[in-house]
Amino acid sequence: MKTNLLSSMIPTVTPDISVGQDGALAFGGINTLQLIEKYGSPLFVMSEDRIRQNCRFHKQMLNKYFGGNSHVAFASKAMSCRQIYRILADEDMYADVVSPGELYTAVSAGFDASHLIFHGNNKTPDDIRFAIDRGLGLFAADNMYELDNISRIATERGIQQSVILRVTPGIDPHTHEKINTGKIDSKFGSPIGNGQAEDILRYALSLPGIDVAGLHYHIGSQITEAQPFCDALDNVLEFLRVMRERLGFTARIINIGGGFGIRYTEQTPLTPYDEIFSSLSDRLTAFCTAHDYAQPTIITEPGRSIVADAGITLYTVGAVKNIPGYKTYVSVDGGMTDNPRFALYSAPYLAVLANKADKPTELQCSIVGRCCESGDILIPEAALPKAEVGDIVAILNTGAYNYSMASNYNRIPRPPVIMVSGGKDYVAVRRESFEHLISLDN
Ligand SMILES: Cc1ncc(COP(=O)(O)O)c(C=O)c1O
Repeated sequence: MKTNLLSSMIPTVTPDISVGQDGALAFGGINTLQLIEKYGSPLFVMSEDRIRQNCRFHKQMLNKYFGGNSHVAFASKAMSCRQIYRILADEDMYADVVSPGELYTAVSAGFDASHLIFHGNNKTPDDIRFAIDRGLGLFAADNMYELDNISRIATERGIQQSVILRVTPGIDPHTHEKINTGKIDSKFGSPIGNGQAEDILRYALSLPGIDVAGLHYHIGSQITEAQPFCDALDNVLEFLRVMRERLGFTARIINIGGGFGIRYTEQTPLTPYDEIFSSLSDRLTAFCTAHDYAQPTIITEPGRSIVADAGITLYTVGAVKNIPGYKTYVSVDGGMTDNPRFALYSAPYLAVLANKADKPTELQCSIVGRCCESGDILIPEAALPKAEVGDIVAILNTGAYNYSMASNYNRIPRPPVIMVSGGKDYVAVRRESFEHLISLDN
């Protein structure tokens, strides 16, 4: 389909959208209305091409500032399905997983387990055994309970398991409280500031079966400034300096986590990647030179910034209800079951009417879902052209933490994930049926 970008009519936050001459929204060059006709509604649509571009961008950034001694590990929690791992493997990416389920999905798609990092704050002995038996590359160990189990199981298996220790550098990156993890008071990791990080490092170094390869931290999500990343690295480098003096420990790996912000709305600033990585590289080089420290491998763990702008969700409009003096509710055939992020974090999104993408906006409304919950809101204040039954709503930048957070609340089946690439579309995840919903019920 020939497309013609009418950028004045549609938001600029999603690189792969455009408007065809018929006024229909296209994604990855494919008419979204035809996708709905072919696959039904609602639909997650993801651009394989954009995912690949985002992987390459992150790898280029690390290569530019840290050389070949670096890895980008996609944070699976943002979007986990087998096709994602095939794309990642093809792009020579690493990945992080936070559960045996994510690990199983990756490995079942042929992803090399030695390129996986296993995160989380409560890995069970079974999780640990499952991962070690599949040849996991690295554990990001969160606490002493996990270390004890990794040590015991690795020793039983006769191996030295590589581990990085999760520390909390005491940085508040000013994102939403529920996605802020680098402060001292966090369920994740051991704080540097109160001495617990030193205690756990000393403990890990004393355990058999464990090779302490380095440190990990992740300060939060949707960060669009360089300063929090720089402050966190400063604290971690100072910690490493002291730990070499006190414990003779030298880190071979520093995993700085993810958290790079994306533009959900046009007001969100662009993440200054060059500023972030050049500042981090300057700091690391200065530290290594000043303290004669061998340059550690740098790992980043972007999730959102790999997949968020590579995805949109398409819904069909049902009831349009105006409450005079209050507002207009536009109800769609999905909701918090496929995108709980407004309910969880008040996360902002932009919407377009896919069948009227060339029309000016004239309706202020709330786009709401079909669940039996007043908090089932997708966008509380959206601007759309006049919305009617049967219109197709596209919510933009839903590629991260939507499919992966989707649920069957109200026994609503999850939508499929359709990939578009090179002007073609294919099914990455099939639509759930009612049969799937009852498949585990006795
Ligand atoms: C340990 C860890 N790494 C990476 C990420 C990915 O963060 P983002 O999707 O914001 O890049 C998260 C997100 O919560 C995380 O907890």
